[in-house]
Amino acid sequence: SKKTMILGIETSCDETAAAVVENGTVIRSNAVSSQIDIHRRFGGVVPEVASRHHVDQITVICEEALNQSGITWEDLDAIAVTQGPGLIGALLVGVNGAKALAYVHGLPLVPVHHITGHIYANRFVHELEFPLIALVVSGGHTELVSMKEHGSYEVIGTTRDDAAGEAFDKVARTLGLPYPGGPEIDRMAQGGRPSIDFPRAWLEEGSLDFSFSGLKSAVINYVHNEQQRGHELNSTDIAASFQESVSEVLVKKTMYAAKQMRARQILVAGGVSANSKVRSEMEKAARAQGIPLVIPPLSLCTDNAAMIAASGTIGFLKGARADLSLNGKASLAI
Ligand code: KG4
Ligand code: ZN
Repeated sequence: SKKTMILGIETSCDETAAAVVENGTVIRSNAVSSQIDIHRRFGGVVPEVASRHHVDQITVICEEALNQSGITWEDLDAIAVTQGPGLIGALLVGVNGAKALAYVHGLPLVPVHHITGHIYANRFVHELEFPLIALVVSGGHTELVSMKEHGSYEVIGTTRDDAAGEAFDKVARTLGLPYPGGPEIDRMAQGGRPSIDFPRAWLEEGSLDFSFSGLKSAVINYVHNEQQRGHELNSTDIAASFQESVSEVLVKKTMYAAKQMRARQILVAGGVSANSKVRSEMEKAARAQGIPLVIPPLSLCTDNAAMIAASGTIGFLKGARADLSLNGKASLAI
């Protein structure tokens, strides 16, 4: 039977990425140009700077993805592109690049929601088993998604304020660590003890929603108080305590949802799923409940285009198509 070959394109934030994926499960190529070093200078992603670098990189990254895949444009079935959510100027570069390539090569265009991409990064590790619960935690998102079959998504919990990754980045900045803060906190926490009792926002009984702004403020206040008293900052303990608070809430709410839905699988995805504490605690909890857990390798946790091609494969097979009027959307429902 014929293989389904999809070129994925992702430019929603600060990675310009293109990848070719076979049958939604095999990565034939995965090209990423990261802008982290450029944005670090500014302490965060500057949207206008991001757009310019996407424009710079998009053509060469798409060519690289095609060249490394070992296939030709004629072998492709479709082009899948992140439509949103994300930085609008950044998204438009990918969307317009995809439209141009689809037009030139006479290929169908498939719009992809960024979050569904993160979820499908797990399909490179293990076939999805339904019903499943997916936790998507990144710089822009904290979402619990329930799936009963391929391509069907129900958001059952979301953050009411900051995303988990945003909290990592802001706490890191308070501790004087560079952007992106998540990996820095992770590293710093290795040497610390979770000795400080920072708050956990459980919200109402049974709620699957999240809130991280109270925790973020608690850490910032703690740091300011310590500095005012002239104490030397115990940064490793602060990092470990903050990380424990985040991971405890993420793990407990995910497990609660999984039990309620009688999930056959738990997926974790997005940049924060690279966090060593989140990974190890999630593994412990899932093992205790006897529910199989899938987390992508680090390189597929953060933004990439293989995940967009994987989700786009499902969209393609289900008949999702966009025409050349496709527009990027800064905010977009799943
Ligand atoms: O998925 P991603 O690359 O981009 C978005 O869609 O937002 O996620 C980036 C986020 C950043 O906030 C970054 O600090 C966080 O993921 N992150 C981590 C770790 N690695 C990346 N957070 C905690 N621990 C990590 N090891
Ligand atoms: Zn992302």
